[in-house]
Amino acid sequence: MQHTATSLRPALTAEQSERAVRALRDALGADVVTLPPEFEGRKHADWSRTPSADPVALIRPRTTEHVAIAMRICHEHGQPVVAQGGLTGLAGGACMLGGEAALSLERMNRIESIDPVGATMTVLAGTPLQTVQEAADEAGFMFPLDLGARGSCTIGGNLATNAGGNRVIRYGMMREQVLDLEAVMADGSVVGGLRRMIKNNTGYDLRNLLIGSEGTLAIITRAVLRLRAKPRAVSTAWCGVPSYDAVTTLLRQSQERLPAGVSAFEVMWPGYYDFVLQRLPELRAPLEGRHAYYVLLESSGADPERQSAAFEEFLSDMLEQGVIADAALASSEADAAAFWAIRDAPGEYPRLIPGRVSFDVSFAISDVGDAAHRCGAKLRERWPNATILIYGHLGDGNLHIVVQEPDWPPTVAPDVQQVVYGVTGEMGGSVSAEHGIGLKKLKVLALSRSPAELAAMRAIKAALDPLNLLNPGKLLPP
Ligand code: FAD
Ligand code: LAC
Ligand code: ZN
Repeated sequence: MQHTATSLRPALTAEQSERAVRALRDALGADVVTLPPEFEGRKHADWSRTPSADPVALIRPRTTEHVAIAMRICHEHGQPVVAQGGLTGLAGGACMLGGEAALSLERMNRIESIDPVGATMTVLAGTPLQTVQEAADEAGFMFPLDLGARGSCTIGGNLATNAGGNRVIRYGMMREQVLDLEAVMADGSVVGGLRRMIKNNTGYDLRNLLIGSEGTLAIITRAVLRLRAKPRAVSTAWCGVPSYDAVTTLLRQSQERLPAGVSAFEVMWPGYYDFVLQRLPELRAPLEGRHAYYVLLESSGADPERQSAAFEEFLSDMLEQGVIADAALASSEADAAAFWAIRDAPGEYPRLIPGRVSFDVSFAISDVGDAAHRCGAKLRERWPNATILIYGHLGDGNLHIVVQEPDWPPTVAPDVQQVVYGVTGEMGGSVSAEHGIGLKKLKVLALSRSPAELAAMRAIKAALDPLNLLNPGKLLPP
């Protein structure tokens, strides 16, 4: 059987699929391979609200060998497979179109070893991010990737989406946190593994090719993570800032002048701030009065005394110069946590704004203010009563925009998307800064990627997964 790498859904007849599933169950047993209705009621959609079909089988491997056997059998039978991590993705990448087997990494959840000399941690791909953060902390290190879904998302999902989050400005995206990864290719062969060195110029970098491939090129089974020195001092401030120029001045000045640099620079527009404070009574307003922008500024380093004095002096200076209109300095971990709770409020969106249309776009930092203004004004003109929330990882040029009007029918989403992606295309931005393409952004990928780039991506997909078995219909538009 032959499928082209760009066909949306590889067609297996029900009979062929049954044969594949039977072969999987015979080889791996009923503990690893369950069939409907054995997993009835289980959720298969991610956080993006993209609908998902049920899988023809649920594979829950315990080892890389199980994954390899499963892929060898699927390859033999032409059975498509969707990898599932914690299902916190925001692009529909782990959802099913129909006819796929789901391969969940939930049982491959273990920290295998920590190397305190090389500052590395080897983990199985189903390990939740927060488990990794806590184990790094206990071992005297830090694992710097951090995002609101930390308790449920997995290292495999973070790698497959090249997740970003709150500390990219200092430590980079998930790509920067990994020295090696082990993965099972479409034909069941196993690549990579346990290399713990930083430098490795031995030809094409398969690790970096698989990172961000959203389950379309391989199933990631294990990773060697890079740990960082645990900061001994963390200074955090909540700033009210009068203009976008002042926001960029604050960013530049804090990078130039803070002795420990900047470890987070999160910006929230007042519509976001007002909305989350009104709707979530447990949140406390750090400042009195309303400001044009709110910045959560964090600086982390190794010298508590010098750092906190310098941080305070820097804030006073910015206040004096009018770059900051008002600021609250965290004097305890609880204060800092209360500031972060305001930024982490999107974790409550399913309850607060169920029918939302959301975006994850990026621009050159100098363009972000203008881009946000243009999107906000165009949306407001068209839908005067809509809730419009704008915030993001501004230090990385990354904006999140969330739009909803209470009685919108779902059919309005394409119109809303046209507005925001229209501005993104005009301003040379990216339609996905950190969440990936999945199913949700297939139609707009070409706004951010040239025909030559798309052709190169298709060639890679066709070479590594010629039968289009791994997450078919995702990432690459047909
Ligand atoms: P899933 O949702 O299960 O899968 C995501 C994609 O990866 C799918 O295409 C799936 O097929 C593939 N995949 C999963 N595991 C594997 C594997 N082992 N091998 C191959 N492919 C695999 N993202 C950011 O970048 N920054 C943020 O700040 C951020 N904040 C978030 C806040 C909240 C409240 C939520 C709900 C999500 C947020 N996200 C953020 C989205 C982010 O992409 C995910 O949280 C996370 O990276 C996905 O991990 P997961 O294990 O849940 O993957
Ligand atoms: C955030 C997610 C939505 O930054 O990426 O809150
Ligand atoms: Zn984000």
